[in-house]
Order: sequence, then C-alpha cells, then structure tokens
Amino acid sequence: MVKKIAILTSGGDCAGLNAVIRAVTLRAHNKYSWEVYGIKDGTLGLLKEPLDVIRLDPQNFEGSLMRMGGTFLGSNNKGNPFRKITRNGKKIDSSDLVIEGFKKLGIDALIGIGGDGSLKILQSITKKGNINFVGIPKTIDNDVKHNELSIGYDTAVDVATNALDMLQPTAASHRRVMILEVMGRDAGHIALNSGIAGGADVILIPEIQYSIKSIADHIEKLRSKGRNHALIVVAEAVKKENGKKATVKYVDGEVRLGGIGNYLGDEIYKITDSETRVTVLGHVQRGAQPTHRDRLIASAFGVYAVDLIAKKKFNRVVVWKDRGVQDLMLSQVAGYSKTVQKNDPLIKVAEGLGIYIGEIN
Ligand code: F6P
Repeated sequence: MVKKIAILTSGGDCAGLNAVIRAVTLRAHNKYSWEVYGIKDGTLGLLKEPLDVIRLDPQNFEGSLMRMGGTFLGSNNKGNPFRKITRNGKKIDSSDLVIEGFKKLGIDALIGIGGDGSLKILQSITKKGNINFVGIPKTIDNDVKHNELSIGYDTAVDVATNALDMLQPTAASHRRVMILEVMGRDAGHIALNSGIAGGADVILIPEIQYSIKSIADHIEKLRSKGRNHALIVVAEAVKKENGKKATVKYVDGEVRLGGIGNYLGDEIYKITDSETRVTVLGHVQRGAQPTHRDRLIASAFGVYAVDLIAKKKFNRVVVWKDRGVQDLMLSQVAGYSKTVQKNDPLIKVAEGLGIYIGEIN
C-alpha cells in the first residue's frame, strides 16, 4: 500500500515548477490521502542531517505559490551525484548517501521533475537504491525526447517573444540591427518559436548552418525595400562561422555557452555597416510568471504522475503528446535529447515568411 511519497525538482529551474508540486500534493491528498514530502534542493536535501525535507499539504498552496516562477523547494544543477565524498573519515559515493536519505524518509515512491540530464541521474540513483520512481519533464529548452512540451518552455518562449516586441520599436527608432541571444542549450526550439512569433528577420539555431554573407545579403535586401532596421534571434549554442563554440569562462573555472550574439553583432557591423546592438536574455527566460499553458501542463503532469504511482506503474515518465498526457518507459526518455529536425513544420513557416533561417537548401 502506498502511503507516503516524495517530490523533488532537479536541474535548472523554470516557470511552472510550483504548479506541478501543487498538483502532486492536491491529487495525493484529495484522492488517495497520502503524505507528501518535498525534498529541498534536488537530491541535496537528502545529504543533510537531519534530512532537509518539508511536509506538503494542500494548505501550502492556497496562496500565490502556483502563480510564481522558480521552485520553492529549490533545485540544483551542479555536481556529480556519484562523486566520492568524505564522511566520518571515510570516502563514500554520495549517491549511497542519497539512497540512505530516501530510506530514512521511508517513502513508497518518488516523483522527480527534471530535464533529460536530471531524469537520467534520477533513473540511475533510483535503480541503484530500488526506489519506485516516476519522472516529469521540465526544461525551458524543450529538448526532452518523445515529449512535445516540457514544463517551463512556453513561458520562456513568451519571454523571448516579448523581448522581440520591445526591441522592435527601439531598433526602428535608431535604424539598428538588434540581436537577441536566447537560451536553449543545444536545441533551437526557443529561438525558432519566439523568432516566428516575435517577427524576427533572421533566426539562427544550432541545428542549421548559416553564413554571415547570407545574413548581410538578407539585411541589404530588406533595406533596399525600405526597411530601416532588422531583428535577429540567435540560440546560445549556435557556433561561430569557423565552427567554434562561443563560450565564456566564469571565475569558478566553468565554461558556459555565451557570446554568439556579440560575435554576430561585430561581424554583421563589419560587412553591412549597420549599427548593431546585442541583448542577451539569460535567466529572465527561467524566472518569469508561468503562462497558462505551463500551469496547465504542470497540473496535468502532476495529477497523472500520482495516478501512475497509485497503479504501481513505476520507472515511467509522463509526456505531453497529441494534446494530452501519456506515459512512457523512463529508459526511452531519460538522457536522450530532442533537437529541431530539418523537417520541422516551423522551418517551412519561417521560410514562408521570408525569414533567413540558415543554409537549408
Ligand atoms: O537547461 C536550461 C538552461 O537554462 C539552458 O538553456 C542554459 O544553457 C543553462 O540552463 C544555464 O544554466 P545555469 O543556470 O547553470 O547558468
């Protein structure tokens, strides 16, 4: 008999996480009368003594939590959970401590909310610890395989679209080429979708090669027709023309994606003599108030995930497909990513609108 479940959010945060925690709590309480525990900071809460967990009740969600971005449980996208750490003078695999934490908590099942990478990690830990697991996909990158919509993606696209809406008037006022660099890791979904919705003239995604000369020709063509400005959206993982990644080294020594917008700005300036300006949208794509669609998917995923546990269907992941929730084996999804395919219908739409989207033909 299932009586007690836990939930955690793992990897980069996004909008809609509080809504999914709420949905899990409401369903587990109202339908099954189970106890629900929220684990703080991904699996890190399980390494604490005492465990850093909180009991979740429907009352926790009577206020504005569901309407807010971020995750009130906290999350973590750093560190190898299988790293060796020293405890009481002994070297131990930290995943063993996480598993020990789960056992101490005495749960019957865990719901883990994460992207492709986090789901893979949670799959390994729960398999090792023999813990009943159900996964829920979230990521602004929308790159979880076999899943049409991840929690957080719709909000991120909305934020990027709004940014284009705000850049267009200032671009036109100063006759400038405005470049907007968006997130998305190795997938161009945010750039492609916001670029179309936000009326961009050029959309660059990591999946399609481009040429600076073609971008310049496109801007010149717009100019010859009387346009005094242009909008470019570029995904953070688009490479420089020489094939090198644009990256930034942070003081902690980590190398992260960043800089492609500035690179393009310089190159375009050089050959078109258009004044360029660059906006790097960054984490505002993650922290915004969730759109209705993200709250809706989060709610549907949360309810469905609890019902899977009630049916004792474990090692599953919920996915959004054909306007509803379905579930798949975790092994089909965890660790696999989904990038923009060359035959994505939106590429045809972009072409149809006269947007330069790279060297596709
Ligand atoms: O995977 C989500 C994401 O926001 C990516 O789009 C981005 O590259 C990365 O996380 C940023 O990570 P961090 O929060 O560690 O800077």
